[in-house]
Amino acid sequence: MAKSVVILGTQWGDEGKGKIVDLLAHDVDAVVRYQGGHNAGHTLVIDGKKTVLHVIPSGVMTERARCLIGNGVVVAPHNLLKEIEGLEARGLDVRSRIGLSPACPVILACHEALDQARERARGKRAIGTTGRGIGPAYEDKVSRHGLRLADLADPQRLADKLDAVIDYHNFLLANYYDAKPVDGDAVRDDAARFGQILKPMFTDVTGDLHELRARGGRILFEGAQGSLLDIDHGTYPFVTSSNTTVGGVLTGAGVGPRDIDYVLGITKAYTTRVGGGPFPTELDDAAGRLMAERGVEFGATTGRPRRCGWLDAVAMRRMVKVNGVTGLCITKLDVLDPFPEVKICVEYEGVEAFPVGAEEWGRVKPVYETLPGWSGTTQGLTDASKLPAGARAYLDRIAELIEAPVHMLSTGPERDANVIFQHPFGH
Ligand code: IMP
Repeated sequence: MAKSVVILGTQWGDEGKGKIVDLLAHDVDAVVRYQGGHNAGHTLVIDGKKTVLHVIPSGVMTERARCLIGNGVVVAPHNLLKEIEGLEARGLDVRSRIGLSPACPVILACHEALDQARERARGKRAIGTTGRGIGPAYEDKVSRHGLRLADLADPQRLADKLDAVIDYHNFLLANYYDAKPVDGDAVRDDAARFGQILKPMFTDVTGDLHELRARGGRILFEGAQGSLLDIDHGTYPFVTSSNTTVGGVLTGAGVGPRDIDYVLGITKAYTTRVGGGPFPTELDDAAGRLMAERGVEFGATTGRPRRCGWLDAVAMRRMVKVNGVTGLCITKLDVLDPFPEVKICVEYEGVEAFPVGAEEWGRVKPVYETLPGWSGTTQGLTDASKLPAGARAYLDRIAELIEAPVHMLSTGPERDANVIFQHPFGH
């Protein structure tokens, strides 16, 4: 029986991970974020009330689970606090349940300013980032001059390190990007203040996870963004700056491959993408508009409209392999309910090797297989026997093409709207 489960998106994000994490969090002792930052937007609907989380694990809405933020997550202290305060205002006890790795890289105001200045400078080639400073914060981590949460909590260390970082970024902003430098004093004051506020939440996330595992506890790792936005395996450079695929769990939380028992790949029944970059199955027609409208496809973080298209089984098959997916959870199937026919991309015409990056992805021509639609609705279904035959055939074909079994089906935004064929924790 699985004790630790990874939930990650197999597409370009927005597959509906947050809802599934929230659902499975009832069964676990800890929910762990391991990569990304507040670029993520996880929408939960509980008793008709909508909550959007950005960096706090989606397990926070259940009483039991500890919410751990591993060293692989880049943390913007002001944003984290805003999120904590928002949840506290709704009567949730948050601070005692959050555990923050002191090794998390810090996102400062200058990272955000740099992210936005870079995007402006890229013009038509803009990546379409969320503008939250994610890329520049990871750059500072890799170049080894970035600050970590532990630095914020120690006034001497902070004083020793922060000025050089602000100076460097302000130099770039003013002299390379012709942009407004950030107010250094404000950054310094904020960093010192937030460090003291966050310090009581610090914990050795890696140590805690191993202890939990030794005690037989259940752990859920919550991925952010999607596999095709992975810095190594995605549509580079139109990607995010972290490993969104399963390797990110190991480095971003400090667990070994044998500490993962099950990988649940969340896959939308069609495909969406926000921001720029190649998207072979994108639709610029009435079908795409119907998907956007029925699926309410607007970014949870930035409110941008999402691009929509058919399911891409070629890319999915690859992501299933990269992530070692055990089972799939198909989401938003009901969006396709009124379609007279549905398509799946089964091949990339004339392409022998899997695309390396944006240039190769941009040349991909999808070959489609068409399946009949289904009459009747799948919305809100909880009983597998009530699935229309056509919908069942679509799911079976997906499983066959992408070489992974469908273990779950999410049939609406509400927590209980699911068909569970096989529970990831094995019950
Ligand atoms: P960044 O992560 O803000 O640097 O943005 C890089 C790319 O990832 C852009 O195309 C964003 O739209 C995309 N992205 C980042 N976070 C999310 C997410 O949570 N869902 C979907 N796309 C995302």
